[in-house]
Amino acid sequence: MPAPDSGATTPPAAPLPVQRHLFEIPDDVAYFNCASVSPQLRAAREAGEAAMRRRARPWLIGTDQWFTEVEERRTLFARLVGVDADGVALVPATSYGLAVAAANLTAAPGQRVLLLAGEFPSSYYTWQAFARRTGATVTTVERRDGQTWAEAIRDALDERAAVVTVPAAHWTDGAAVDLDTVAPLVRAAGAALVVDASQSVGALPLDLGAIQPDFLVTVGYKWLLGPFGLGYLYVAERHRDGAPIEDNWINREGSQDFARLDYQDTYQPGARRFDVGQHSHFETTPMAIAALRQLLDWGVPRVAATLARTTARIEEEVSAHGLTLTSSDRRPNLLGIRLPARAQRRVAAALAEAGVFVGVRGPAVRVSPHLWTTEEDIARLVGALAVAVPG
Ligand SMILES: Cc1ncc(COP(=O)(O)O)c(C=O)c1O
Repeated sequence: MPAPDSGATTPPAAPLPVQRHLFEIPDDVAYFNCASVSPQLRAAREAGEAAMRRRARPWLIGTDQWFTEVEERRTLFARLVGVDADGVALVPATSYGLAVAAANLTAAPGQRVLLLAGEFPSSYYTWQAFARRTGATVTTVERRDGQTWAEAIRDALDERAAVVTVPAAHWTDGAAVDLDTVAPLVRAAGAALVVDASQSVGALPLDLGAIQPDFLVTVGYKWLLGPFGLGYLYVAERHRDGAPIEDNWINREGSQDFARLDYQDTYQPGARRFDVGQHSHFETTPMAIAALRQLLDWGVPRVAATLARTTARIEEEVSAHGLTLTSSDRRPNLLGIRLPARAQRRVAAALAEAGVFVGVRGPAVRVSPHLWTTEEDIARLVGALAVAVPG
């Protein structure tokens, strides 16, 4: 690493070649919906099949395996986001992680929770319930034309803010929320920062050491390429002696000793107290491990560089067709193509008939490729859009 004042900069990460051979996507399918659910890696499917065979014979599962694979999964995720494994809790869904955050934060009546317009419903509902409980209000941050999300948050922030809850990429169209800018503003206002990174972890580098969120949550089945039900919650050290939202046996100290009959008031170390019950997930944990290993092997900066190149190509092609994006300041992994109102309801089905799979979120077609995406896929997408949304 160069010395801070050496003037040297880290060279940008090199894009990776197409990795389609690692997935099972037929040639006539152009899948652009990673922001919804990623296809499984072959390696993850194989790991899952082996795990199912093992699960059929539980006498082959030793007591240590209730803990070892889970810890490997925790450690691999921690490595991917550059934190200590002690800071990671294993949660089934974003809503669960957000519920842990909400249960461990406070607000006085009249204080505010700031969240972005169009935020994902699991986040909205969690903070709405938090506001009902605490007497705080939920304040929706809107951005004016030409404004970045960071500027809109800065304008909305004042001493009334108790919690600011943001993504790094807006889930509808990939609009960037610059957390390096937002985080110090939130800290200076004395508010807690909660990040829903479901549309960014695995797809773009996030420096948690610099951002220092109070809580950061992500699902595992999108940009982490893993199975359903295996998500992650990063918990800042200052909250690690907080209250879990359920009281399961395996999070208590000494649970490894199955012969013990006494009850324990103390927990497993770090953020493990927030793990969901039955976190061992014998059937699917090996799938998550295989996917996390692959991501670490590629390296997130290279994944991001590849996605940036792919989405830039898509942007170029759809712009040539006269279509515009809903956000120009977007993250590298997804983009929203603005649709005329008349096309909004039918476009996804029309594209699917042509073997092109996208999401439609509000007024935009959401396009989210990954390392399986080829030039042929892009041509298929643009061709199908030209038919479905004639210029
Ligand atoms: C930003 C964001 N958060 C969370 C989720 C999933 O939420 P949950 O895990 O509560 O089902 C999604 C799924 O689309 C999402 O886009």
